[in-house]
Parts: sequence; structure tokens; C-alpha cells
Amino acid sequence: MTSATAIAHPNIALIKYWGKADETLSLPATGSLSMTLDVFPTRTTVTVDDTARDTLQLNGRAATEGELARVTKFLDLVRELAGDTRPAAVVSENTVPTGAGLASSASGFAALATAAAATYGLDLDTRDLSRLARRGSGSASRSIPGGVAIWHAGDDAASFSETVAAPPLAMVIATVDAGEKPISSREAMRRTIATSPFFPAWIPSTAASLELMVAACAAGDVTRIGELTESNALRMHAVIQGSEPPIRYLTAASTRVFDAVAGMRAHGLEAYATADAGPNVVVLTRPEDAAAVAATLTAEAGIAEPVIALPGPGAYLVDGSE
Ligand code: PMV
Repeated sequence: MTSATAIAHPNIALIKYWGKADETLSLPATGSLSMTLDVFPTRTTVTVDDTARDTLQLNGRAATEGELARVTKFLDLVRELAGDTRPAAVVSENTVPTGAGLASSASGFAALATAAAATYGLDLDTRDLSRLARRGSGSASRSIPGGVAIWHAGDDAASFSETVAAPPLAMVIATVDAGEKPISSREAMRRTIATSPFFPAWIPSTAASLELMVAACAAGDVTRIGELTESNALRMHAVIQGSEPPIRYLTAASTRVFDAVAGMRAHGLEAYATADAGPNVVVLTRPEDAAAVAATLTAEAGIAEPVIALPGPGAYLVDGSE
């Protein structure tokens, strides 16, 4: 194939990935678990080209040198596997606000991995595609399978993502700031590992929470899933804030959302908050409660347009003309 187009959706972790065991292979220090969303897809087309080097168009503009370098590094890996040296033209459209802590890198690299593998003729199953996407951005591994996915820690062969059984869940996305985050998750992870005194405690704590989360998913226990989600998110922000110099992703507006969510629980509405490497907050709830959660976020925390998401599909190829 000389051209292929793929669509992938972002995922939000219920048990977070924060810290690498191997930076080159993008192996995580611990396993993690997420829900892929059915909103904010990324659509990426990879076309083998006769040009001298790779090109990248991102949301209708030419990419920066830094963005292009990251994509070229990833394509080099694909080309090495495929035994092909030809450059490619990559065109990618993100509908999630880029860099706002809503995992645009996850949908981006999941779509790129899926399209590039097809373009360069690699015949990969979901497991190997998730290992490949992992090399672009760790969390992208979890956007390859659909729904609720676990990303295993382990060596290169064992660190892949797969769907796990889970009860019906919904997420309500509270965007408090759609701007670029001040420090990338890649850089912040490095600093956390090097300087946060809490990092050594984060690893076993997260591994233990992941085991409990897998059991709660299997049991269909939404309350336990929610409790573990909120606690793991706050622990991640604590370990990040313990870095030197400190990194703070949560803002006063984020805290207002956490307060509103605690208020919902006090009034019998089951909702649990989480946040990735940015100020935006995502609220986990049951699908039948999502509209009430969204309305309360607007009334109590001033969130203009909360977005309701259900579990989304894994990454897939589409006809380029679609
Ligand atoms: O995939 P990366 O390298 O952008 O890291 C993502 C890290 C978090 O989003 C904060 C947590 C997670 O598990 O998705």
C-alpha cells in the first residue's frame, strides 16, 4: 500500500502511567489501565513519498521541526521493521485540544502507528501494534485496543495493551483550559524520576492499585473503580508536585472541579475525578448519571461545555476517501 488512513481515539487512565523503566523502548515502570473515549478522534494519513525527507502536516499547518523529528523517529522504527527506507508524507487532524492534558499524543501515535504499519506493509496484530504505538508515546499503546484497556509492564515483548472486561462506564470531560501545558509529560516524567522523593513509593502503590482495579473491573464494582481512580490520580499529582523544581498541573479551576465532584458524592450522585498531565479534569461515572454530572459541573464549577464520552473503539484503518 502506498497510502493508508487510520482513526484512533484518546484514552484517559484510571490507573496512571507515570515513569519509565526504559526510555528508549518506552517501557513503563508500572502497568496502567484506561478507558478509550468515543470522542475527539485523530485521523492520520501516511503516504509513501518521493520527497527527500518526511513531511508532517498537523491540523492544517506545517509541523514544527520538533514535532516532525518525533514523527520521523517513529517512522524510522517502522521502516526498520519493514526493511524500507522511503520517506513519507504524514497528514494528521486532531480534534482533541493539543497539549491540554487530554492525551492527544495517545490518539496521535495510535493513529500514526496503525496507518504507518499498513502503509509500509507490516502485518501486525493488536498486541504488536500496541507495542509499536508504545514507542511513539507510552499511553498510545492503550488506544490500540478499544474500551477499557490494561497496558502491561514488562520487557519489550510483554509490554502491550489489551481490552479487559468492565462494567458500563462514562466520562465527563471538564475542560478548564484548552491551552498548551507548561511542561510536557515526557520532560515532567524525567524530572519526577530524578528528583521526587515520593517516586519510589509511587511504583508499588500504583502496582497494588492496578491489581485492585483489575479485580474491581472484573467484579463490575463501579464504586470501587471510581474510588481507586480518584485516589490514583491524586497520588500521581502528589508525586509530580514533589519534583524539584516543583511541577503543578492542577490549577484553582481544576480544584473547583474536584470539589464539585466531592459535592456530587455527598448528594448521592456517584462521580469520581481524575486528571492527566494538565489542568483539565475528567469525571468518571455511570452512563445513566453522565447527563446529571455534566449539568452539575456547569452549575457548580462553571464548566461551559462538559463533554460526555462512552467507551470508544480501538484504532482502525479507513478508506482514505471517507
Ligand atoms: O503517553 P505520555 O508519554 O504522554 O504519558 C501520559 C501520562 C498521563 O497521561 C499523565 C497518564 C496516563 O497514564 O495516560
